[in-house]
Amino acid sequence: MVVSAPGRVNLIGEHTDYNGGPVLPMAIDLRTTVAARLEPRESMSTAVSSFSPGAVTFDINAPDRLGDWGDYVRGVAWAIRTSCQEPLPALRQVSMAIHSDVPTGSGLSSSAALEVAAALALVELFDLPHETRGLAMTAWRAETEFVGVPCGVMDQFASALGRAGHAVHIRCDTLETEHVPFAGTVLVFDTAVHRSLRGSAFELRRTECERALALLREADPALAHLAHASTEQIAAAGMPAVLEARALHVVEESRRVGDSVAELRRSGKLVGEVLNASHRSLRDLYECSSPELDWFHERATTLGGVTGARLTGAGWGGCAIAAGEPASLAQAATLLTAEYEAIFGRRPRSWLTRAADGARVDQAL
Ligand code: GLA
Repeated sequence: MVVSAPGRVNLIGEHTDYNGGPVLPMAIDLRTTVAARLEPRESMSTAVSSFSPGAVTFDINAPDRLGDWGDYVRGVAWAIRTSCQEPLPALRQVSMAIHSDVPTGSGLSSSAALEVAAALALVELFDLPHETRGLAMTAWRAETEFVGVPCGVMDQFASALGRAGHAVHIRCDTLETEHVPFAGTVLVFDTAVHRSLRGSAFELRRTECERALALLREADPALAHLAHASTEQIAAAGMPAVLEARALHVVEESRRVGDSVAELRRSGKLVGEVLNASHRSLRDLYECSSPELDWFHERATTLGGVTGARLTGAGWGGCAIAAGEPASLAQAATLLTAEYEAIFGRRPRSWLTRAADGARVDQAL
């Protein structure tokens, strides 16, 4: 059987998911495809991939964490077993061949695409009951509890629940989701500055947000999430300036998601100024941008027909997006690529993309 799951870009709502705020990602047409079959005579499972030489092996019934890319697949096997209500019987081993067009380390959620595709492959192979939201949770548990990256739910939900022609609006406090029609084109620009969430400033930002929430709770013990705070509460809390800046970003960015959803519903378009405000806030308040991402934001927004531009994903490198009319974005991509390479000495990659479908079975058993 063959299944696949996409990478994603986040249109708006950055660093809000793990603070109980909303996000608005869309699945993109770069996918990770898994061909899988049962191997009843083998005592170990194996996986090979297009992104790393050699095979990884694991016992599907007792996967160990080994620190290689195979952990994403092992983590999914572990998460499926540990989230079943009834104890699962011993499963037969499997083999998997994986191909991915989602670049790794670029902030397009290659790991979520792999986890969601592997989860779908396993539940289909073993005929386990499942629904899309459950796949997303399985993939998220693999990433956070098994691999050990403290990410929010956005990437796995976007990869599992994406729909062509729609962005996915996720309220990360209740995990309610809705598909918002979005037929527009987005330019995705990979700065080729790679970064990993593990051991990065990402973990520090999470801790800062937890500290800000703890301080706000001194005055309002019922405050469930940082994203639920008001700007007045933040101003009144008298917290250290750095924490105040992080909290302000989260609260204002959550509001920008609401504004963007309302405008998408009204006109089908993203509001450029809202995207630009998001970038400035990530740069100045959340301090997760980079010189390359800032350059993209500034330069792209001077070009005719580009309505707005911002970093997407965690930041500190990776990708940025720009919105506007498709023909203008195509011209902008050519120009920005040449200028970027001349200034930064790195070869960027770019894609003109539209909202794509989430995880799917491409070829049944
Ligand atoms: C990474 C994480 C997501 C989210 C973004 C920032 O992509 O995996 O959960 O926190 O950063 O918005």
